[in-house]
Amino acid sequence: MNLARQIEQYLPQQLLELVKDISGQAAKRGQRVYLVGGVVRDLLLGYPNFDLDLVVEGDAVKLAQQVAETSQAKLLAHHRFGTAKLRYENFTLDLATARKETYARPGALPAVTPGTLKNDLVRRDFSINAMAISLGANDYGELVDPYHGKSDLGYHLIRILHARSFSDDATRILRAVRYEQRLGFELETQTAQLLKRDIPMLDTISGDRIRHELELILKGKRPEFVIKRLAELGALPRISPFLNGDGWIAEKFDRARRLKKPNQLPSLYFCLLIYSFSERGIEQFLARLNISAKLSRAMRDTLRLKTRLPLLDKSSLKPSEIYYLLREYEPVAIQANAIASDEKEGTPSLIVHHHLQLFLTKLRYVRTSLNGEELKKLGISAGPEMGKVLQVLHKAKLDGEVSTKADEKKLALSLKALDFHTDPEPPLE
Ligand code: CTP
Repeated sequence: MNLARQIEQYLPQQLLELVKDISGQAAKRGQRVYLVGGVVRDLLLGYPNFDLDLVVEGDAVKLAQQVAETSQAKLLAHHRFGTAKLRYENFTLDLATARKETYARPGALPAVTPGTLKNDLVRRDFSINAMAISLGANDYGELVDPYHGKSDLGYHLIRILHARSFSDDATRILRAVRYEQRLGFELETQTAQLLKRDIPMLDTISGDRIRHELELILKGKRPEFVIKRLAELGALPRISPFLNGDGWIAEKFDRARRLKKPNQLPSLYFCLLIYSFSERGIEQFLARLNISAKLSRAMRDTLRLKTRLPLLDKSSLKPSEIYYLLREYEPVAIQANAIASDEKEGTPSLIVHHHLQLFLTKLRYVRTSLNGEELKKLGISAGPEMGKVLQVLHKAKLDGEVSTKADEKKLALSLKALDFHTDPEPPLE
């Protein structure tokens, strides 16, 4: 099957020219270049995907070096892996030397040696990801599809290439479900059986690799579907026995998305995922997935705050009291609690939810209008005295006792006149 016409229509002109240029330079070096993996799958499905992966039969790094010299590309080469990234203004291209892989033991990273395109395709995860399109002058556009990926695309099937696939690399268990849910496909019968059989092999995968796959899942459009399906298949408890994929997660993830804060979203999902965990559960999870210090703090804060929510369940709380109760927590942890506590009845109550929202949308941004320099001009000396005055001003502003700069000046001068020595420690701490 020849896809030359489809490629011409699918790729943006600039990218098409780049790819042809690379292929031309490769031909002069006696090398062959192919488009592989996700882009071939997505081209056949008609989904946009301009993250191009090119496989080179021959040394991809040398080819990329030559291409970088003759173009505006920035080169990032990994000699050890035989891979290179070419970064252009609008695109990046990944080039990899065609490789043969062998797994010394399940879950280990594979031993890699240079190989042919066929070797490179057989090491891949699923038939729909194991296709290539030739970019050579003689057979430009020819589809290379030894595992019938195109047919599986037609039948909407996720199929592994051989019976050891999941045990060689159990991250494929997570990948299979991610593709299944993303594309609206099904696991092919034998693939599903082998996936279930090999779920214990997830234990052979390092925390970093599991976390990476979980991050990819959480970056998807509807991660709750993947989580639910992993639970149904029995894979979720293998990551942590405390995880669950029930309707609660689906509803809360949906709320998280509706905040429309895409940068915060993955961390927020992580905080919601562990919302029902015990302290022991969360520590096990953080260690198993080797979660970064920053995200670990947010996740621990989520649970710590959850246990303190009853303190916020009082309608008489002043804004400054709410502020001092919440300021020590990571905002994403507060957000997770706000989402989790958004219940119509039962505990935590709507008052709690309202207070969390008030902090997130307003209180945390409240600043005094007067700064240190201006206070100095009013005769307040730098050091502990100024610190205290600023704190009182801030508290007064939070509680709406002052609103203008003039109000603040008046208050600051009255504090000075009092020879201000009271200790304005946070009221509820
Ligand atoms: N791959 C694999 N086994 C893995 C990870 C990746 O065989 N554990 C192969 C697949 O053939 C995949 C390719 O490496 O197509 C590139 O991996 P990745 O970038 O994760 O997938 P893409 O298909 O490029 O991206 P996506 O599917 O997320 O669009």
